[in-house]
Amino acid sequence: MHWRGLVDEEGMGRLAQAVAPVLRAGDRVLLEGPLGAGKTTWVRHLVAALGGDPGLVSSPTYTVLHVYDHAQPVVVHVDAYRLQGADELAALGFDELVDDAVACIEWAGRVPGVADHGRAWRVVLEHADGRRQVTVFPPSDQDVPCALPMIDGGSVAGCATVGQADINAQARSRNQLS
Ligand SMILES: Nc1ncnc2c1ncn2[C@@H]1O[C@H](COP(=O)(O)OP(=O)(O)OP(=O)(O)O)[C@@H](O)[C@H]1O
Ligand SMILES: [Mg+2]
Repeated sequence: MHWRGLVDEEGMGRLAQAVAPVLRAGDRVLLEGPLGAGKTTWVRHLVAALGGDPGLVSSPTYTVLHVYDHAQPVVVHVDAYRLQGADELAALGFDELVDDAVACIEWAGRVPGVADHGRAWRVVLEHADGRRQVTVFPPSDQDVPCALPMIDGGSVAGCATVGQADINAQARSRNQLS
């Protein structure tokens, strides 16, 4: 099951808003796509959708790992482009940070085993005539969020309603924490 659609930059925001309510602490979002495909842009919109400050999101190309701790759940943002392997990521404290966070990993393919823990989403981004073709693969125990098919004529192979009760519960927990 997956969702696929063509989105401009604004559409990336709607996409992140559709996925955010069903993300859980401990989830990993593996961002795949060539240089400039929009991986960091996706993270910026996701941080905004989770109540964080999108202005704080920048590419961790050289720093490797950023933490946006005003988002709920906290977002850990990794750019693995320059990493040599999983040990380097572990040395940055990744494993301790991610249990209570959503980990977004650009170039995740460079870190063997990174998808083997927690629930893994795959977001595949491709250049397409000034926009991006985006394919969202939810974790195996997660249906495609129902808000996704309403975006920009994208298509989906399966769809489950995100209950209003879930959204309310998440909003309540954010209010308690902030
Ligand atoms: N859906 C979109 N439609 C059009 N332009 C977009 C879209 N998403 C992102 N962009 C633009 O693409 C450019 C590259 O975006 P971004 O830095 O997020 O890519 P990236 O995949 O993280 O790059 P890198 O591989 O260098 O890490 C930016 O100028 C951004 O504004
Ligand atoms: Mg990037």
